[in-house]
Amino acid sequence: MKTVLCIESTCDETAAAVIREDLTVLSSVVASQGKLHERFQGVVPEIAARAHLERILPVIDSAVQQAGIDLKQLDAVAVANTPGLSGSLLVGLIAAKGLCFCLDRPLIAINHLHAHVYACQISSATPVYPCVGMVVSGGHTHLYHYANAVTAEYLGGTIDDAAGEAFDKVASMLQLPYPGGPSISKVAAHGNPKAYSFPRSFVHEDRLDFSFSGLKTAVRYAITGPGKQDPTQVSLSGQQVADLAASFQQAIVDCLVVKAMQAIDRRKMRVLCVGGGVAANRLFRDQLAVACNHRQIELHFAPVEYCTDNAVMGAIAL
Ligand code: KG4
Ligand code: ZN
Repeated sequence: MKTVLCIESTCDETAAAVIREDLTVLSSVVASQGKLHERFQGVVPEIAARAHLERILPVIDSAVQQAGIDLKQLDAVAVANTPGLSGSLLVGLIAAKGLCFCLDRPLIAINHLHAHVYACQISSATPVYPCVGMVVSGGHTHLYHYANAVTAEYLGGTIDDAAGEAFDKVASMLQLPYPGGPSISKVAAHGNPKAYSFPRSFVHEDRLDFSFSGLKTAVRYAITGPGKQDPTQVSLSGQQVADLAASFQQAIVDCLVVKAMQAIDRRKMRVLCVGGGVAANRLFRDQLAVACNHRQIELHFAPVEYCTDNAVMGAIAL
């Protein structure tokens, strides 16, 4: 039974995991940089790269130790090598290459986007392919058709902001903590999703694209009115924040659900797999499940702990 170490450093999480060929996760370590980027309300590439440098070796050491193995027992090292922030990617890649050189083991390059979809396989005893795969993260909102784990065809995606990025930017306008997804969904639980009528781009069009920049602007003007005021200088009541968050979240979820169903219909697929940070969103999970149930589509979400960036997801399709 082969054992693989997988390394992830594409954005702001330094992660390593040891996984066996039968998908048993022996260890999964994630060192989040959330606190370092919080005051900038987004990831600062230079800070991210430096933090990866400090953390990569301790994170790999912990993953190997927690797996209860010796480095020599590894059969291969996998690393996410695209897409991502160049400085961040380099740190993981150099660590992986160094290990492979010293241990004389093969290096396996992983596409980070497809890895988000691969995470869905972990909770399914049978192969999830062929399927429509959806990646909804901080940097991407993409739809793919997977004939199998390695043959992916791009079907469509966002033409501007990613869904997670919109969550982060709107949270900043509402003065909610970074990352925005979890903080918006928390306050939205007390809000009315119909309080504000926000745009849902392309939902009535036969194209598999998303656009969230107009939604972001609509939230901004709902906060400030027609002027050019800074939204963070406007004082809002707790109920207004909750209503804005709930209405925004509902608009994003509606767009994601409609486009996922259009992709399924267009490719006549029976299976949908969804991963990425935004796939952790409770409302999205519930409403997509209802839509899939209605059409008898088999739905696989990445387990919540493997939605945001982690190293386990990379090793799953090997
Ligand atoms: O997949 P990920 O860790 O990083 C990228 O590959 O981009 O996704 C991070 C994104 C952030 O924008 C964060 O706000 C969003 O995922 N996110 C959520 C939730 N948890 C994380 N968005 C909505 N609801 C959540 N519960
Ligand atoms: Zn990601």
